[in-house]
Order: sequence, then C-alpha cells, then structure tokens
Amino acid sequence: MSTTKRVSVITTPIYYVNDLPHVGHAYTTIAADTLARARRLGGQDVFFLTGTDEHGQNIERIARERGISEQEHCDAISAAFRSLWDRYDIRYDRFIRTTEDVHRRGVLKLWARLRGAKTPDGRDAVYLGKYSGWYCPRCEGFKDEEELRQPDNVCPDHERPCEWTEEENFFFRLSAYEGWLRETIESDRLRIRPDSRRNEILGVIKQGLKDFSVSRARVKWGIAVPEQPDHVLYVWVDALSNYVTALGFADDGEAYRHYWAGGDERLHLIGKDIIRFHCLYWPAILHAAGVPVPTREFAQGFITRDGRKLSKTTGNVIDPVALVQRLGPDAARYFVLREAPYGADWDFTDSAFVGRYNADLANDLGNLVSRALTMAAKYCDGKVPPRWEPSVPEGVGPARAVDFTEMFATSVCVPNDGLAAKVLGRYEDIDFSGALTELWGWIGQFNQAIVQAQPWSLAKDPARRGELEAFLYRLLEGVRLVAVLVSPVMPRAASRIFGMLGVGEREPTPGDLAWGRLEPGRPLGSILPLFPRVDRDGEPKSGSEDAPATKTATKKQKETPVSETTPPPAPKPEAAPAAAATAATAGDRIDIAEFAKVELRAAKITAAEKIAGSKKLVRLQVDLGSDVRQVVAGIADAYEAEALVGKTVIVVANLKPAKLMGVESNGMVLAGSIDGKAVLCSFDAEVAPGTKVK
Ligand code: MSP
Repeated sequence: MSTTKRVSVITTPIYYVNDLPHVGHAYTTIAADTLARARRLGGQDVFFLTGTDEHGQNIERIARERGISEQEHCDAISAAFRSLWDRYDIRYDRFIRTTEDVHRRGVLKLWARLRGAKTPDGRDAVYLGKYSGWYCPRCEGFKDEEELRQPDNVCPDHERPCEWTEEENFFFRLSAYEGWLRETIESDRLRIRPDSRRNEILGVIKQGLKDFSVSRARVKWGIAVPEQPDHVLYVWVDALSNYVTALGFADDGEAYRHYWAGGDERLHLIGKDIIRFHCLYWPAILHAAGVPVPTREFAQGFITRDGRKLSKTTGNVIDPVALVQRLGPDAARYFVLREAPYGADWDFTDSAFVGRYNADLANDLGNLVSRALTMAAKYCDGKVPPRWEPSVPEGVGPARAVDFTEMFATSVCVPNDGLAAKVLGRYEDIDFSGALTELWGWIGQFNQAIVQAQPWSLAKDPARRGELEAFLYRLLEGVRLVAVLVSPVMPRAASRIFGMLGVGEREPTPGDLAWGRLEPGRPLGSILPLFPRVDRDGEPKSGSEDAPATKTATKKQKETPVSETTPPPAPKPEAAPAAAATAATAGDRIDIAEFAKVELRAAKITAAEKIAGSKKLVRLQVDLGSDVRQVVAGIADAYEAEALVGKTVIVVANLKPAKLMGVESNGMVLAGSIDGKAVLCSFDAEVAPGTKVK
C-alpha cells in the first residue's frame, strides 16, 4: 500500500431532474461511493462529488405540465435524489445543484476564459455562427441526420422526433483540438476505460470533430449568456462545469485548488451514453480555458431487465427505492457491484438478486462470522483468545503476500497485508466484482479452514488448547480483515461485524488494515444476525430458525431422516440406491424410466445447524448450483454440524417438501450406514454443485 497521501476527486454524472432517480443513477453513485470509501480506507485524500443537473428545455416543459415553477420542480426532484443517497449510505462530500448561485458564477468565469481563449492554431476558441440542424430536446443534443431513424427524424435513444433548429449561436471550435485530444487520450494522460470506450472515442476523433454550438436561443431555464442575454449556455456546458464549480472554481476556493488543480487524479465515472461529452467536449473546453483536465474516465455498462432496455413504456424499470428497501442497502450495493464487471452491460433478475443474497451474504459471509464468533464465545469464554505470536523471519515483513490457506493449514505463517493490498488494488482498478471475488475466495478458504482444523475436536483435548486458541485468534482476525475490506461495498455490515468483534460499531480506518489488531482478553460483542436468509420472493424464510415447530408436528414426528417422512415414500437413507437395487428380486426391480424420475444432484453444504431438541436431525443449507435450499438430514449422531460445511453430498432434488420437527426440508441427502451410524455418500473427485448424478 502506498504511504504517500494521494489526492483525488471522484465524480458521478449530475443527474437530470426531469424524473425520479432510477437504478442506473444508483449504480454509478454506489460505484463512486465504494471507490471513495476504498480510497479513504487506503489512507488517501478523496473528494467525492455528485449532484443534479437542473437546467434545460426538458425542465421548462415538465414544470409547465405540472403547473409549478421550474425551481419548485427542481427542488422536489433534487431532494428525492438526496434522500435516495441517504438510504443507500452514500457519503458524498458535496452535492451540487446547477441552480446554485456559486455554480452560475463558476460557469460564467469559465465562459469568460473561453471567450478570451485561442486555439492551438491561434483562432478564437469561441465564435459566433449560424446553426441549423436536428435537435433532440431529450438528449439536449444536436444529431447528425445519419444518426436519426426515418421517417420523422427519430432520435434512436429517445425514440421521439427531433426538431429542426436554426439560430445564431456561439460555437466552440472543437475541430481545432483534434490533435491535442488524440494525443492526450493515446498517451493515457486522459485514461479512458474500458478499452472499448477508449477505442470508440479515438474512432470518433479519426472521423473528424465538428465544432458545436454552446448557446441556445429558445431556452429560458438556464444560465444567460452575458453577451446575448436572450440566449442561455448550452446545458451540457453548464452541466459539465459542475465538476469544477462545486469545488469553488468561481472564487478559486481551497477545495478547487487542493483537489482539482493540485490533486493527483480527476476521475469521472460516467455512463457509456455520455462519453463524447465527457471525453471530447469537456477536456477540450478545460484545456482551452487553461484549467487542468480530467485524468481518468470510466464508463459503466447499462443495466437491462429480462434482456430489455429499462423503460417506463415497457414497464420493466427497477425502482431504486424498492430495491434498497427489499434487502437493505448493503445487499443492494453488493449485488450491483458483484453481479457483473463494472464496464459491462448486464441483466438484472430478481432471482439472481435473491440467489446472491442467500448464497454469498447469508451463507458464505454470514456463516463465517457467526461460526467464528460462536466458537470464540463457546471455547474462549466470549473473549478474544491469546494472540498468536509468529516468529517472523528476518527481512520478511508486511510486503510479503501471505497465503491464508497455508496459514490455516499449518501453524506457521507470516501475517501481513498481502490480501489487503490485493483487494484495495482491485477497487483502485474500478474492478469491484474482482475485489469481491477475491474476498469471497478468502471467505471460502476460511470456511474450509474451519472444517479442516476442527476446533470442536481440539476443544475436547486440553493438551491442544494452545492450538485451538491460535486457530481462533487467526480466524477472528481473518473475519475482522474481511469486514475491513468489504466495508467500501457494505459499510453497515462491516460496522456490525466490528461490533460483534468487540471493537465498537464504527467505520474501519487505514490502521485497521494491519494484521493482529484484536486485543487478546477483550470481550467480544453479542452475536447478531447479519443477513437472515430469505425465500425466493425475498421474504424472511418461513419454517426456518425462528418459526416454532407446532406441537402436533413435534409429537407425531419421531427423529427420523428426511426420507422417512417425505411423501412419496423413498428409500431409507441407509440404503444407497445401488445397494438397494442389488438386493431387490427381479420382480421388485424398477425400469430405467422410473429411476430417471429421481433427480439426484451434487450439492455443497454451505451451512449446518443441529435442530434443537433432536438427537439426529441437522438443518442444512445446500448449494445446488441453481439455488440454495434447506434440507433436513438425520445424520447429527455421526457428524458435528460444523464439520459438514464445505462437504459435497448427493441430494434427491425433486422430492416434495416435508416438515421434520417443524422444519421444512426440500430434498434428501443420501447416506449409507456403518453400525447404525450414517455415512454420507460423496464423490471421489471435486464436482460442481448442481452436477447431475446418473
Ligand atoms: N445530466 C446528464 C449528465 C451530466 S454530467 C455533467 C445525464 N443525466 S442522466 O440522469 O440522464 O443520466 C445519468 C447517468 O445514468 C448516465 O451516465 C447514464 O449512462 C446512466 N444510466 C442511465 N440509464 C442507465 C442504465 N439502465 N444502466 C446504467 N446506467 C444508466 O446524462
């Protein structure tokens, strides 16, 4: 990790207030917030800016339709954005509105500079000219005739006819900046990513850049051009300027000087539809005005739903308020950042959202935290166990990447920040899904390490006390580090885990990245549910943990494996299908078609918990590749619940659900038996969850 304090500005586009926020807006804002948090965690000095774009013809029209003033309309919608960001735990440093006076003054200062600017070949950067062409009021942009769909000159993005416009406008001489732009982008002094977007922009430059008009005659709701008071500045010039006006460009303020002019990085996160404005117009305008230009721009992909563009007409919009309300801000933030690489287009489905929540959050992360803390509570009297002191070989320090697998498998390890550097590096590369995949790899290894180390066995042997404590200390530290590194994406969960670890519910700081911060002997906090499992509809699971078993069900059902009570009758788990077939007489045999009705699949156990009041029954969560479900098995007399997690077993996947001791089971785990004790059927090589057993 770098020790010098890097200074940067991170921005989102400022959002139009013509309508309520949608999920595309939430997507960029979550991404920017995550990157800002990751940078702060890495000890960097960051300024995170977002806001609303409030001028233009669209707003005039909508306010008129609503029968209120433009300002009233803007105030209401801008407030809706801010309240949404509160719900999503977005912590911006500044929320700019283009109707603020400080913005207007900043824009006019920039305009004055442009009016006096000369192009590299000595001409005026801004000149008065005549514009005639097709204008899309929704894009607030001019369109080339070849871009439009015929008949009716329809804008391809908004599917509405464009308007033929003729007026005297000021123009910005973009054509004169072609060479400078090409060189700036090719040299990566302006780093445009993903590469496909960089190539797209270079392609546009290659075709030749046209000057564009920067004032509008027919629009009133905007910033009046001093030289032509009946004109307003083109809304894109007005909007793009927010990136400097918000920092105090008008008065050469401290934030402007420190973060923009004097900072190390000026980064814009944008959508792929607005790259021309950001990667061509904006750098050229700033360069002409003698203001430092952005150093990096990253274009996110588009979210679709059921394979289609989000649109009110199609009725497939994703309401960001409903999304955050459904499973909370952490889950929504996690899902959008984990589901696809940030620059790619991707399709939102409800089942993927709920599936990831249950598999990644409830099972992987939730279980790791609850198992680590439960064991520490049980075996270490609810306190942090003694610190494991490594003997660090000379010259091996924080720079060496640690292998946690090795660390858990053997008693020798060198703790350091290898994992932290890796994950922070991925955030820095704007590879959120990569950062999370990296972290989840470690979560999986930690869960696996529990199975391997079998702390419950160590706990039975007083001679192995030291080993047990050393293991649990490292496990708790591992959990702590996971919380620290996941905090940019899931700030609430991270702070909650901190609370459970007894270090206080708070935001992690750069100091928390170091290994070994938990103080031995310090009491741990209470164990709280982190991500309670939900059903397919995202509702809390019925019949799970908290649902009490009914008295009659409890009385009637004896402790039996799931198969014995599951209609239709199925073979007892003790009888493996192959053995049963061998033993059967020819007359009892079934034909292949009958057997084919039974759907056998490989399933990975992701969580296991003994059912209270039962000697044999254990409640399992099993990952079937396509879904994670609950299965009850009668194997608790032969297996410790903790030891089951991570095992791949065979499950009858198409049994009708049944209840055992009031707990719903959705399938049956196959097992044989030795001396009456269950022995699970398994594979002799690694197979993926969901693999069909034939
Ligand atoms: N006001 C301008 C930006 C000015 S910045 C100086 C604007 N506003 S917007 O509200 O229409 O869009 C803001 C961002 O949302 C754009 O970057 C756009 O790409 C993004 N998205 C809109 N729909 C989206 C999806 N369906 N998916 C992902 N992002 C999407 O443009």
